Amino acid sequence: MTATDVRPSPDAEAMAAAVAAAIRTVDANIDSFGDRYPADTTAGNRYPLRPPVAGQPPGANVGWTTSFWPGMLWLAHDLTGADRYHRAAMSHVDSFATRVARGIDLDTHDLGFLYTLSCVIPARRTGDPRARGAALAAADRLMTRVLEPAGIIQAWGDLADPRQRGRTIIDSLMNTPLLYWASHTTGDDRYAAAAHRHTAELSQHILRPDGTTFHTFYWNPETGAPLRGETEQGHADHSCWARGQAWGIYGFSLNHRHTGEPALLAAARTCADRFLAQLPADHVAYWDLEFGDGSRQERDSSAAAIAACGLVELADNLDDANLADRYRTAAGRILRSLADSYSTDGHPASNALILHGVYDKPKGIGVDEGTLWGDYFYLEALTRATAPGWTSPW
Ligand code: GLY
Repeated sequence: MTATDVRPSPDAEAMAAAVAAAIRTVDANIDSFGDRYPADTTAGNRYPLRPPVAGQPPGANVGWTTSFWPGMLWLAHDLTGADRYHRAAMSHVDSFATRVARGIDLDTHDLGFLYTLSCVIPARRTGDPRARGAALAAADRLMTRVLEPAGIIQAWGDLADPRQRGRTIIDSLMNTPLLYWASHTTGDDRYAAAAHRHTAELSQHILRPDGTTFHTFYWNPETGAPLRGETEQGHADHSCWARGQAWGIYGFSLNHRHTGEPALLAAARTCADRFLAQLPADHVAYWDLEFGDGSRQERDSSAAAIAACGLVELADNLDDANLADRYRTAAGRILRSLADSYSTDGHPASNALILHGVYDKPKGIGVDEGTLWGDYFYLEALTRATAPGWTSPW
């Protein structure tokens, strides 16, 4: 065989085409959004500007999803090396620094999502002191949500709100990397210890014996006793919200990477095996794992994108090469299905990267739409698949 006979595999060609299509959309969105923020989800497959809330103007930095936009810009930089994306991503640091300094809409554990992508990345890559300071301030703010004696991080709302007191959610597993970074950069172990303790509690209570997960779980804030699981965005308290299970695959794997704790790797595998066992024929989950083909329910492409990243992260944590290959193959099938059948390549009217996500079906919010986090994790999955040696921000 001569060098000219060597052709990229069809899969590599498909992935390269998917990356090119995604980058075209990111380019167009830089022109239209610039330093402002798209809404959490599309409306009719197009992101409008983030609606005005709490006295902030349209497109302001509020809510839990704004960092996925600069996160995509960093991924575009990783994929292309082009300065344009670096400049565009750096231009968001001021907004996040101002947000944490002024305490704008910070009553949430999602500080991890917000500040890992917007500020930890530039702090690590450029040493930018404003980014580092903002990310550390966010980590300190997240530490105020640690509830003793339970040792969990409260997810949502004011700490005195009786509906939210003592409640944590599976998505929190993706927010702890901010705390591991804070310990690493300051040498102060308190942040990592809080993250480890929280994650250990979740592995014992939010993960059910049958391998499915609760979306949310309550602890008694006074005694620290574990109380009960409930859903918020899933079909029912007893069912398994697909995106929560995907956060479990990825989140437990990341927490294992940071702690080396075998029980967390086992939890990630349990989440993965159950998620994969429930997948429909095209490998893209319905919004609750209760539903399958023929159910006439919507898919959640964002759950698929998160799982595609989480399965690769899980595989990277495993010593057993055969098992790791199994999870990588499953991730590849999901990603290929997203690229072939859910991406907006060929849908020029949309400014999302992938369609057919669900934000909150019970409340009728963002049903069968693009989602900002689904787009981010789709681009991250493409980056993992096509940029060997890529450095994870998590
Ligand atoms: N972290 C909120 C969600 O996944 O909808």
